[in-house]
Amino acid sequence: MQINNYLNRLEGNYLFTEIVNRTQAYQAEHPEAEVLRLGVGDITLPLPAVITDAMHRAVDDLSHAETFRGYGPELGYEWLRRKIIDHDYAPRGIRFTLDEVFISDGAGSDLGNLSELFAPGGRVAILDPSYPAYIDTSRMAGREIVYLPCTRENGFVPAVPDEPVDIIYLCFPNNPTGTMLTREQLRPWVDYALRHKAIIIYDAAYEGFIDNPELPHSIYEVQGADRCAIEVRSYSKTAGFTAVRCGYTVVPRATGLNAMWKRRQCTKFNGASYISQRGAEAVYTPEGQAAIRANLSHYKATARLLREGLQALGYEVFGGEHAPYIWCRVPEGYTSWSYFDYLLHEARIVCTPGAGFGESGEGYVRFSAFSARENCEKALKRLKNLA
Ligand code: MLT
Repeated sequence: MQINNYLNRLEGNYLFTEIVNRTQAYQAEHPEAEVLRLGVGDITLPLPAVITDAMHRAVDDLSHAETFRGYGPELGYEWLRRKIIDHDYAPRGIRFTLDEVFISDGAGSDLGNLSELFAPGGRVAILDPSYPAYIDTSRMAGREIVYLPCTRENGFVPAVPDEPVDIIYLCFPNNPTGTMLTREQLRPWVDYALRHKAIIIYDAAYEGFIDNPELPHSIYEVQGADRCAIEVRSYSKTAGFTAVRCGYTVVPRATGLNAMWKRRQCTKFNGASYISQRGAEAVYTPEGQAAIRANLSHYKATARLLREGLQALGYEVFGGEHAPYIWCRVPEGYTSWSYFDYLLHEARIVCTPGAGFGESGEGYVRFSAFSARENCEKALKRLKNLA
């Protein structure tokens, strides 16, 4: 048997697994400690009742012969795909047909699975730092990675590669730096992809955090992107679906990849659950919209609180404006992992070490605003006491 040695050669644990392991080890030694979790971007507010009510009704549907359903369509139910087209894209002047939208069991799965559309090997451009799944997925497929540094010096705005690549992962609002690009700043990426016949995989998981109406919520707001970009979206960070698992991916026909992705999904994916799709459908009702706006406002307020609080304590911080993440420089003398350990042991605060997102993340830690206001206030107090 020949194993996939690329997978075997991945170093250490997945970043967020390592953080959980270190936190659990600390908690096991200090069971009485109140640990404040500002590490992984997992939502903390409960799902709005309008969504759970819809899911309860869906469970009831499945328990009666007249409304029972078996396997759903592999691409997702039409009633949800129609809502996505009409609500998430049409108001921005973007037109898709039903068969260009694929309901998923979350953005994370598709961001990895999309790699199967492309031949093994090849070159992939990835922002450095970036969400670690892009790197791991590319390594698993034996791809050569071209890292695009996002540093304080370039304002965390990457430059398009100066060499040909096949695939480009972009994520805006950015995880982990919180950077957001304007339409004009996205244009060169689309031009590059069209020129080099590359594909952009655009991770828009955090678009719900964009406050400025001038900023693009979708790569398709840039003309020509429908020929070179796949967009991946999530209900996790916008509607609190981290445990529910539902998202969607747009693969425009003009990319030439739509039929392939459909074929792949029909073979390997039996569709997202009926219950989670009914929950996602409820997001688009007026009550659903009001409820998720309220939750997003809460997280935006905790992001502001953390950002301003850290600044007041003398930290150099970035992000936290159109994103739930605050990218924070660690004090002199620390690496991002040593500062992570220091905060865990001395302040009982969990953050995410910047180096876990890539080499250019060294010297930073990321704080997540997916937390209660009270926790963020406590964290800031503890940081003040450390000073
Ligand atoms: C993060 O903390 O970067 C994300 O929440 C992790 C994820 O979405 O998988």
